[in-house]
Amino acid sequence: MTPVPADALELTLEESLSLLSGADFWSSREVKRGDDVVVRSMSLTDGPHGVRKQPADGDHLGIGDSIPATCFPPAVTLGSTWDTTLAAEFGRALGAEARALDVDVILGPGVNIKRSPLGGRNFEYVSEDPVLAGELAGEIIAGVQSAGVAASLKHFAVNNQETDRMRISADVSERALREIYLEVFRRAVLHGRPWTVMASYNKINGIFAAENEALLRRVLREEWGFTGVIVSDWGGVTDRVASLRAGLDLQMPGPGLPGLSDLRRALETGEIASSLVTESATRIRELADKTASHGTQAAHLDTVAHHDLARRIALSGSVLLVNSSLAGTPALPLDRDAADLVVVGEFARSPRIQGSGSSQVVPARIETPLEALRGLSRGTVAFAPGYTLEGADEELHAEAVAVATASTVVMFLGLPPHAESEGYDRDHLELPAEQIALLRSVHAVAERVIVVLQNGSPVTCSPWADNAHAVLETWLGGQAGGRAVAELLFGIENPSGRLAETIPLALADTPSFTNFPGEGGRVVYGEGIFVGYRHYDYLERPVAFPFGHGLSYTAFEYSDLRVTPGSIPNSFDVRGTVTNVGDRAGAEVVQLYVEPVRGKLQRPVRELKHFARMTLEPGESAEYTFRLASVDFHAWDAATHGWTVESGRARIAIGASSRDIRSTAEVVVTAEDSDETRRLDEWSTLGEALAHSRMAAAIRGGAASGEFFAMSDDLERMAAGMPLRVIADFEGMLFDRDQLATLLRESNLP
Ligand code: GLC
Repeated sequence: MTPVPADALELTLEESLSLLSGADFWSSREVKRGDDVVVRSMSLTDGPHGVRKQPADGDHLGIGDSIPATCFPPAVTLGSTWDTTLAAEFGRALGAEARALDVDVILGPGVNIKRSPLGGRNFEYVSEDPVLAGELAGEIIAGVQSAGVAASLKHFAVNNQETDRMRISADVSERALREIYLEVFRRAVLHGRPWTVMASYNKINGIFAAENEALLRRVLREEWGFTGVIVSDWGGVTDRVASLRAGLDLQMPGPGLPGLSDLRRALETGEIASSLVTESATRIRELADKTASHGTQAAHLDTVAHHDLARRIALSGSVLLVNSSLAGTPALPLDRDAADLVVVGEFARSPRIQGSGSSQVVPARIETPLEALRGLSRGTVAFAPGYTLEGADEELHAEAVAVATASTVVMFLGLPPHAESEGYDRDHLELPAEQIALLRSVHAVAERVIVVLQNGSPVTCSPWADNAHAVLETWLGGQAGGRAVAELLFGIENPSGRLAETIPLALADTPSFTNFPGEGGRVVYGEGIFVGYRHYDYLERPVAFPFGHGLSYTAFEYSDLRVTPGSIPNSFDVRGTVTNVGDRAGAEVVQLYVEPVRGKLQRPVRELKHFARMTLEPGESAEYTFRLASVDFHAWDAATHGWTVESGRARIAIGASSRDIRSTAEVVVTAEDSDETRRLDEWSTLGEALAHSRMAAAIRGGAASGEFFAMSDDLERMAAGMPLRVIADFEGMLFDRDQLATLLRESNLP
């Protein structure tokens, strides 16, 4: 039966109501009249880096087996590519695989900001920076939806930890919310236009996200123009009536009978208007029609091409952290013709390709690093596991050291599968002790030691980095990661990944260290906007490897930065040249940071605003161009609950990383929401009053005319933080209460 078009039949209230909860764990309800399907049932399934479609008789918790599909590298690796084109290609492939498996809504991408490297699901998320994460997510969403499959941008919002995730309140300032935790979603929504958004489990400042009308209606729908379906996380609805009122359309999983009963009762008592029900049902019905396959799925799913795409993502997402020289020659790349190579580490044979939890895919196939190295090497490749996935093993340790003696050794180290997962957070950042011990033993006897890391979130490198001549961070490589790392090690491909999150020297250096994972049902985002590199740069704190860092087998030079003001305020065209000055092709990621105006608001040292990845042949030069607008200079002003652009001098910093700035240029930024819009009241401080053009004129005018007491500069500076009402009560200090009331009335806009 084909669905009856949405505009053909009005639904009854009961039919509409039935749509507001899922039918079962993985599907939405259908509405039928006789044999006619009025609203088709949709299949919703994970996940962000591959389709986890359970067979028809899947377990009711949805965590059991699933149909094999391409296991692409998770978001942590895709995020390190900084490649919007590749992200879009990945989205299209994920959409095609979802379509081929009759999935209507793919539950991803996940974009929550990596507030702490301890986050258990950080492997599923993109970055510590909202611009990088939001832009890449927007491309993924558009790619998925080009296949007629809905993406589900998640988890909206402020879901930055696993500890107590279904109850905890993320207590976050308005400014940090806007500039960091919502900004990533704003960009993804505006650029990707997702057909669905998934509300997160947690509370935000005490209100569940799924019941948060300010978040779901005012921000997501009214401010950002989102018109799609808001779906709960699985089991994420506590009060179905409150969630419907807040704008949450679809409760999952089904059948959600208690929630439907609550809604019926609320309708009968008049607690909610029937229009809320029909509004949500209409959106669900429109989604069901929009995702109806209409035969769009590819006749033949090109799994070979998808496997190769997975390899390319793993290639571009691997970050060369260290490449020291040995007798004047870089430790990497290795010589494929070398007589012997020793591979140490169980992860070479049993690679970490993804993280644990709802995103876990059954891979269509897996290429291990060991197989790939043996396939590409023209010499011998010996192997010693050195450790087990469960932990240390003395015999394996000794065997590995013996094999490694006087050889070139590639050591595969990283986090064991149980170290990071949905559902719980990490409690430290170290590599397993037995792996560090093994590295030290091998380094003592080997000629050259290359470390390859497999981990979904950062590990501290300083405890062992001097035991490695090179370190290649491959994150989680997906099913083709083994081939990718072998091609990088042998120099067949050139590393080009850049860090999408800072690697700290120690956990205690991290921004949220004193506020993670919270206690007593609350986690206070005490670091405010100073997340990731914003924190380390502001405190001028050393890091192991900065945001945006990544080495190459070639080198790039930057020149000829030109900034041209545009025709509208605060618009600038930024151009410059990058040249590959090495002897082999490579990709560079040009990063544009804005060093904001130093005004009233506390600002980070620099913030990423644009980036561009470019591949250059040896000797080739290419021009980058960026267009800046007000949004690149704005900050959220909690005093006016709005964006503000402060006037003054800002700097454009073009960098190869957040701490490797190659070119800078100064620009003059003009204030946009002049103080005219700022409303003052008796609790405004003297400083705020004197920064308000009309109020300042009135105060200074009154002092000049003798109407008010004239304050000395020192007294004015001392009193700048005093609320006006307190000043009015200090006899003869400046003005009295009546005079203050007049000042406020005359200075505020009507
Ligand atoms: C999980 C996750 C969410 C996933 C959903 C369905 O709890 O939080 O990301 O899509 O449930 O498995």
